[in-house]
Amino acid sequence: KALRANDAQRTFRFKRKRGIFMEKEILQQQLEKQFRWFHSHPELSYEEYETTNRIRTLLKEKEIEVLDLPLETGLVAIIRGKKSGPVIAIRCDIDALPVEEETSLEWKSKISGKMHACGHDFHIATLYGAALLLKEREEELHGVVKLIFQPAEESSLGALKIIETGVLDDVTAIFGIHSSSDFPVGTLGIKEGSVTAAVDRFKITIEGFGTHAAHPEQGRDPIIATGAMIQSLQSIVSRNLDPFSPSVLSITHVSAGNTWNVIPEQSFLEGTVRTLTKEDRKLMEERFRQIVEHTAKAYDVVAKVDWVEGPPATDNDKEWAEFAKKVAIEEKMEIGIPKLSLGGEDFAFYQEKIKGLFLKVGTGKTPYPNHHPKFQVDPDALYGAAHYLSVFSEKVLLQLKEREEGV
Ligand code: NI
Repeated sequence: KALRANDAQRTFRFKRKRGIFMEKEILQQQLEKQFRWFHSHPELSYEEYETTNRIRTLLKEKEIEVLDLPLETGLVAIIRGKKSGPVIAIRCDIDALPVEEETSLEWKSKISGKMHACGHDFHIATLYGAALLLKEREEELHGVVKLIFQPAEESSLGALKIIETGVLDDVTAIFGIHSSSDFPVGTLGIKEGSVTAAVDRFKITIEGFGTHAAHPEQGRDPIIATGAMIQSLQSIVSRNLDPFSPSVLSITHVSAGNTWNVIPEQSFLEGTVRTLTKEDRKLMEERFRQIVEHTAKAYDVVAKVDWVEGPPATDNDKEWAEFAKKVAIEEKMEIGIPKLSLGGEDFAFYQEKIKGLFLKVGTGKTPYPNHHPKFQVDPDALYGAAHYLSVFSEKVLLQLKEREEGV
């Protein structure tokens, strides 16, 4: 019996080597077909019902197990290796943006006002491809790979939905990917430390006392206080935070009054701050509150601050970054250094609990950045990305197992 199992394994390996199971071109075609479908059927955060159904159907067709979790949208699939070992996770995001697509692609969005303008369609197809390749390798896998198709990344909070289910409680390493138009197809962007920033949001409501524009002395003008706040809040970045540590404060929405001869009762401001370190994040909020409170006092108005914490900065583990580079070299892929961004990524929530790495996958240079109506990814990157993820996962499992056993 044991002999037969060995023979079966040998044949399996042979077929794999010869590419009989999953030829590159065939898999590339399959992934491209799915990518196109996801691209033409974009759904916004928390509304990814059709997307989720499609992913579920595709996985089930290939007999890949989907975990039964209390998720409205998004899902987690699982590949259980036949050899014992640790549990790791790979995550992609699945939501689109409220952008009207302006490409002339054959597979352009079919839904007006919605578009996969951040490459999450590419992420879905890539992770699906990795799932197929890992499924083929089940016999050889030393452990378990959980494949997270996460909803609502664009809301900054979708990762929390996955974490709340407890599905990551036994996971010892987590990896995420994002398409990158900074790199050509075949290049991976790998860097230790932060690649995206902590994202916090603020709203300020300023209460004054309304009056006639000609009699300001009878009121308390919230507009002049607003102007002072807009000016002085910028001094946090320029005067309080370390100039060598990137950060930004942007006020993006201001409203007050509705006519020319009335000083209004109220004004409103909102915006976002981005920081890379915990210290900067804390100092930013402290100084922000001080400046708002004291400026309000100076102008005899009352200000209320609403501070909404988003994800922290991503924090790529040094050892996993090195390991990912090593595997990239073995797989004959190019390595690039991803540009630091003060954009946000809720993958960082996972990294607060589990060591991991957020990788950039080159999808071809384009003049149109992410979230632009003409943004596109080159589907040629699909097979390479899926293949890399599957090989990388397999090697990570082995590496963890060896580490556990103290080899
Ligand atoms: Ni994105």
